[in-house]
Amino acid sequence: MKVLIVEDDLATRKGLEESVKDLGGEARSVGTVKEASRAIEEFDPRLLIVDIHLPDGDGIEVLRAARETDTDREGIVITGQGSIDNAIEALRAGAVDYLLKPLRPAQLEVVFNRLADRRRLESEVETLRAELQETGRLGDLVGRSPVMTEIFEIIRRVAKSNAPVLITGASGSGKEVAARTIHRLSRRAAKPFVAFNCGAISPTLIESELFGHERGSFTGADKRRVGYFEEAAGGTLFLDEITEMGSELQVKLLRVLEDRTLRRVGGSQELKVDVRLVSATNRDPHDAIRHKKLREDLFYRLNVFPLALPPLSDRRDDIPLLSEHFRKMIEDQEHAGVTAWDPKALELLQAHDWPGNVRELRNVVHRACVMTEGKVIRPEVVLALLPRAPRGSSAKKKVALKQKTAVAARKK
Ligand SMILES: Nc1ncnc2c1ncn2[C@@H]1O[C@H](COP(=O)(O)OP(=O)(O)OP(=O)(O)O)[C@@H](O)[C@H]1O
Ligand SMILES: [Mg+2]
Repeated sequence: MKVLIVEDDLATRKGLEESVKDLGGEARSVGTVKEASRAIEEFDPRLLIVDIHLPDGDGIEVLRAARETDTDREGIVITGQGSIDNAIEALRAGAVDYLLKPLRPAQLEVVFNRLADRRRLESEVETLRAELQETGRLGDLVGRSPVMTEIFEIIRRVAKSNAPVLITGASGSGKEVAARTIHRLSRRAAKPFVAFNCGAISPTLIESELFGHERGSFTGADKRRVGYFEEAAGGTLFLDEITEMGSELQVKLLRVLEDRTLRRVGGSQELKVDVRLVSATNRDPHDAIRHKKLREDLFYRLNVFPLALPPLSDRRDDIPLLSEHFRKMIEDQEHAGVTAWDPKALELLQAHDWPGNVRELRNVVHRACVMTEGKVIRPEVVLALLPRAPRGSSAKKKVALKQKTAVAARKK
């Protein structure tokens, strides 16, 4: 990383140069505002370390000017005497830090690492974005249909924020993949992604799984246990099947989200919580609220960014792309030499209704690859794997069923 040091005191300047080099940076240093503006142009630094008081002016102005030509430039303002006004002005000029002299190498290292993290993330986002344009994918999510393109756009936007996301969608529609993608694109990418399925565990145990417990807090708690919230520290916690959590626990979760602190079961210490929460449900949340499966207050807290994944039958355009994606994935694992699709086979897949959504498609593609002799997946192979019903009939059945339930509901 190129670092420009703007500091008139020669000893401080040399010291900083050394520290920057020790951290693997490329340093250049100058002593005046005038020299600084020339160096910014020639050297094009990514980070500036500026002293406030310079013989011919103000270091904060140097930073402001540097960021005017390139907003990606970062600055650290250093000063002999601290004052709140100066600190505020420095931050306004876009400084990432305001530090008092003498600067310790460890302080510089912290800022360096932070910038390096951010750069890594930026380049990751760039790669993913390029990938999306080329192949119709964002992270592990594949799709090029208008709905999916819109969802990719939302994911990219929400990933940048820390706000909670609530993902809805039928089973197999990709809720967990979407949650992982949000994590991968976020500033938290280097920290853990922890997935917890509230439906897979007995309701009485969820609390201690989530928040941890102290030793002896209940029968069987023979050791202290760190909960998923603590495990996900700095990262993302994915709470799947959120409506399977008991109402009392939902109240506790709400409190944790509001206070940003938690207490382990049987513990008295308040622990700080730093996680980004992504939750999911395959039920309609409003319906779940009506049936008292989801507390309304918690819902509003979780649903800051709603993300609704459509069933696969609402994005049939994506089926060939997804099928090919899975074929490649499976071929990488199995090396069966299945390298292509007969177009008719893809048509069959595209016409099917996929009640199990993308997961079901993946499974069928997997079986088709295994059943294929030779290189090309033939329509007969696919046909044998799909339920017999001709196209459209299961959609009609679903509509009929819906009407029946609606009638039944009205009768109640
Ligand atoms: N858009 C997509 N692109 C690529 N793979 C996908 C996509 N959507 C889903 N998948 C794949 O389909 C499978 C199911 O996805 P996932 O587990 O995210 O579904 P889900 O909505 O969480 O389902 P459930 O409600 O049953 O937990 C996974 O193997 C996932 O990799
Ligand atoms: Mg899931």
